[in-house]
Amino acid sequence: MQVSKSLRFFLISSLVLIWIWTAAPSPAQVPQPLYVTHAIHDPNGTGKFYMGREIAQVMGPGGISWLDRPERKTEEMPNIVLDALNLKGNEVVVDFGAGSGYFSFLMAPKLNKGGKVLAVDLQDEMLSTIRQRARALKLSNVEVNKSSETDPNLPPQSVDLVLLVDVYHELSFPYEVMTKIRQALKPGGQVVFVEYRKEDPNVPIKEVHKTTVKQLQKEMAVVGLVPAKVIETLPLQHIEFFRKSE
Ligand SMILES: C[S@@+](CC[C@H](N)C(=O)[O-])C[C@H]1O[C@@H](n2cnc3c(N)ncnc32)[C@H](O)[C@@H]1O
Repeated sequence: MQVSKSLRFFLISSLVLIWIWTAAPSPAQVPQPLYVTHAIHDPNGTGKFYMGREIAQVMGPGGISWLDRPERKTEEMPNIVLDALNLKGNEVVVDFGAGSGYFSFLMAPKLNKGGKVLAVDLQDEMLSTIRQRARALKLSNVEVNKSSETDPNLPPQSVDLVLLVDVYHELSFPYEVMTKIRQALKPGGQVVFVEYRKEDPNVPIKEVHKTTVKQLQKEMAVVGLVPAKVIETLPLQHIEFFRKSE
C-alpha cells in the first residue's frame, strides 16, 4: 500500500512537471525586460535590442521606388513566394507592413470573391499609395488598414494568413505586434516571413535588415508560434512558415 502511494505521488508529480514544461508560451520564456538599449550600435539600427537582435530603422516613403524597382522580380523572385503561399482563393490574407503594396497586388488576383487582402501599414503615405493603386487597377479585394507601432489592428480569429516581407526586422515592438498577430489568426492560420538571410555574409543587405532562422524561431517561440516549414529556394531570403502552438 505504502509503495503504491509513493508510486502514485511520483506519477502525479511527473505529469504536473511535464504539463508545466510543455505549456506554451511559458511566461518564464518571455524576456524581462523585453527591450534594452545600447549606446554603441549599428548605424542602421535603432540602438534598441530584442532578444539579442538590434531592431532596424523603419523604411520611410522615400523607399517606395526601391520597393517597386523592376529588378526586384529577378533579385527576389516574388513568384516563388506566391507559389509557396499556395492560396486557394477564399482566404483573408494580411500583407503586414505592406509598404507600397507590392505583394498585396500580386496576391489579390489569386483570390476569389470570398477572399481579400488586408494591406496593413503604419505610415499614411504607404496606405494612400495602396489606395490609389487599388482604385487605378479597379481592385475591390484590397483593403487598407492602419496599424500602430504596438497593435496591428486586426480582430481576433479573423485572418487565414499573415505575410510579412522584409518587415519583421524593423518592428519597433515585435513582442506586442506578434502576440496580437497570433491572436488574429483563425484556427489553422499561418504567419509567413520573408527575411534576408543573415547566415550568408554575401547577401548584399545591411546587417540589421537580415535575420537568421534560429533567431526568428527563438523570437516566435515566446509568442506561441511554432515553425511549420522553411523554404530556401529564393536567392537571398528565407521563406519561413509558422503556426499557432496549441
Ligand atoms: C521595407 S518595407 C517592406 C514593404 C513590403 N512588405 C514589401 O515587401 O514591398 C517595410 C514596411 O513595414 C512598415 N512597418 C514597419 N513597422 C510597422 C508596424 N509596426 N506596423 C505596420 N507596418 C510597419 C513600414 O511602414 C514599411 O512600409
